[in-house]
Amino acid sequence: MKVLIATQKPFAAAAVAGIKDILVKGGHEVALLEKYPEQADLVKAVADVNALIIRSDKVTAEVLDAAPQLKIVVRAGAGFDNVDLASATAHGVVVMNTPGQNSNAVAELAIAMMIFMARTQFTPATGSEVQGKTLGIQAFGNVGRLVGAKAKALGMKVKALDPFLTDEQIAAGGAEPVHTLDELYTGSDYLSLHIPALPATIGSINYDLITKMPKGATLVNTARKEVIDEAGLEKALEDRPDLKYVTDVMPDNYATLQEKFGLRVFATPKKMGAQTAEANVNAGLAAANQIVDYFATGNTRFQVNK
Ligand code: 3PG
Repeated sequence: MKVLIATQKPFAAAAVAGIKDILVKGGHEVALLEKYPEQADLVKAVADVNALIIRSDKVTAEVLDAAPQLKIVVRAGAGFDNVDLASATAHGVVVMNTPGQNSNAVAELAIAMMIFMARTQFTPATGSEVQGKTLGIQAFGNVGRLVGAKAKALGMKVKALDPFLTDEQIAAGGAEPVHTLDELYTGSDYLSLHIPALPATIGSINYDLITKMPKGATLVNTARKEVIDEAGLEKALEDRPDLKYVTDVMPDNYATLQEKFGLRVFATPKKMGAQTAEANVNAGLAAANQIVDYFATGNTRFQVNK
């Protein structure tokens, strides 16, 4: 089978070598499309491929239409909002992710971002310490749990909200369970978002929620830019000069936010949460193994469009 690794943001070289090795040993042919400038390049490259490994690359209906031999897409990472699942299902294409494989990298970045903001973006202005502060975690999955564990080691109090988990499961993950957004936001000096971008969550982090946060609080977003109501965020930062926002997913209104709020806001220029050699290797090799296994045994354990 022909497997295309299509990554606008390339994997580390060690990950590419490891992926190729697994696929070739599994009897497959490998093609590589990195840093492609246009979506049209991806559309063109899928014409004869049977499998696709991607990161945040957009697998749209147009891509799927252009790939008549495609059987499987593996998103090397957690979030699969970049894949048109309905269209994939209609085309008979299996879509998988590699849950947990890049979580530690994202969790380390969330912690780094908290401290970066607490220390006024590493300027000489007087900052604050995270020890003794309360961290609220919205969605206590693979990343959320790791953020909680690291925050506890820094002496923070950790609370988590996750409607898909029981109190016992949240407590077993080391956090105090809370049951409402109101409770989570009003009680968190730092609020770390780990929700996926879904119709129910898009734009859900709005003015009302953000302004519930206590004096001096910081909202940390290593999830998706789409979950933020950007106009609401801007108004919240305007009305509450004590609040801060840090994100790994640059908002559309970032230039305005920077101009208006200076050191109270920070966004990475390109999503970098999972951009470590370790995360690339973990997620990339998992993707390659899942493809080999799928073609050899039909294993669909990580399929997300069942
Ligand atoms: C994920 O969903 O796994 C992360 O957002 C990482 O995305 P990336 O592979 O584009 O860095």
